[in-house]
Amino acid sequence: MRVLVIGSGAREHALLLGLAHDPAVTALACAPGNAGTAALAESYGVDVTAPASVAALAGEWRADLVVIGPEVPLVAGAADAVRAAGIACFGPSAAAARIEGSKAFAKEIMRDTHVPTAHAEIVDNPARLDSALGRFGPTWVVKDDGLAAGKGVVVTPDLAAARAHAMTLLEAGHPVLLESYLDGPEASLFCLVDGGTVVPLLPAQDFKRVGDGDSGPNTGGMGAYAPLPWASPDLAAEVVDRIVQPVVDELARRGTPFTGLLYAGLALTSSGPQVIEFNCRFGDPETQAVLALLRTPLAGLLHATATGTLAAHGRLDWAPGYAVTVVIAAEGYPGRPRTGDVITGAEADGVLHAGTRRRDDGAIVSSGGRVLSVVGTGPTLESARADAYRKVAQVHLPGSHHRTDIALLAVRGDVGIPATR
Ligand code: AMP
Ligand code: GLY
Repeated sequence: MRVLVIGSGAREHALLLGLAHDPAVTALACAPGNAGTAALAESYGVDVTAPASVAALAGEWRADLVVIGPEVPLVAGAADAVRAAGIACFGPSAAAARIEGSKAFAKEIMRDTHVPTAHAEIVDNPARLDSALGRFGPTWVVKDDGLAAGKGVVVTPDLAAARAHAMTLLEAGHPVLLESYLDGPEASLFCLVDGGTVVPLLPAQDFKRVGDGDSGPNTGGMGAYAPLPWASPDLAAEVVDRIVQPVVDELARRGTPFTGLLYAGLALTSSGPQVIEFNCRFGDPETQAVLALLRTPLAGLLHATATGTLAAHGRLDWAPGYAVTVVIAAEGYPGRPRTGDVITGAEADGVLHAGTRRRDDGAIVSSGGRVLSVVGTGPTLESARADAYRKVAQVHLPGSHHRTDIALLAVRGDVGIPATR
């Protein structure tokens, strides 16, 4: 099987590592890729925002399967274009990708399927903002209604800060979504979906804030671990039953079936799991932890998902133990990152690449905000965490920063679902 992966992050590097281990794979390509993916796959340039160029590359390269990593090409219709060219594609149509691309659409689907989620109001007129803000709080959640790579959200107990963020969005012409605040630990559940059948992967937890102790602004994600030692063993089954399967069935009923990975971002509240958001693709950095434990050959699994044959696929085989990933970010991230710094230690085992490129002289240099995602594994969460940080210490990138507390509360047994009030 010839597999083309679209994207350039550590998520795509993790996907390629998994694909490279599948004996069914005869050739791998990645577009646009990075310095790390280039060691595993042929690299091609492509405009990921142009569905026709993604489909043209897939055809020219004679791909048997295209795996689309990021949301931007999916929302733009890259999967539709690839399928229209007669090539199997792992990733939803533009119509189904709206579950991530439009928060208002996601809310509508959840309302129609009675899926538990935060109460929300859309504000598109500044004159209505203050009265709307008055209906929320004491913690305000202010979101951009569109793709914002996790950075369009402000969660704050400060009404003035909530108002200021909403005004910035409105002045930029973006509708604002106000939401009630969900308490409880967050979990990410990734589900393979072939249009009808849903197969959950191991639950994971992501760390969205830039700083230790969940301080500072939201980012794309600074680290993750899987599975969740503090969660019920029934969590995945419960979330599939109450949340993911109803949404998948509703999308199919509307004539826009979902094919690919449906990511449920959850708050595990005192009244059960509630949806914070859906994403239409693998999460980054959770994928780096989750796939580190998957033993089932990945190409066959993604191909079965892409071709509607998941029900006939065998059970997933997971390695015992845990995986932890720590993101190394460039100076300035999540603001404007400094680029062009030489990285040493980036070719070690367990070091996945995101914002990296190889310079003409062979050096690997930083080229984005999240630069590397370092993965550790072990029989216990504590040992996996130690393995990850041992590897982080061997990487050097001037000016870089990373969180030092990924998975720490879980190791200490300090993560818990709030008691029912
Ligand atoms: P989103 O882009 O919707 O995933 O939001 C990014 C992050 O903001 C989430 O991972 C949560 O940490 C936080 N967040 C979003 N919505 C809520 C909510 N209704 N209640 C509490 N936290 C939220
Ligand atoms: N880890 C968050 C995301 O992929 O959206």
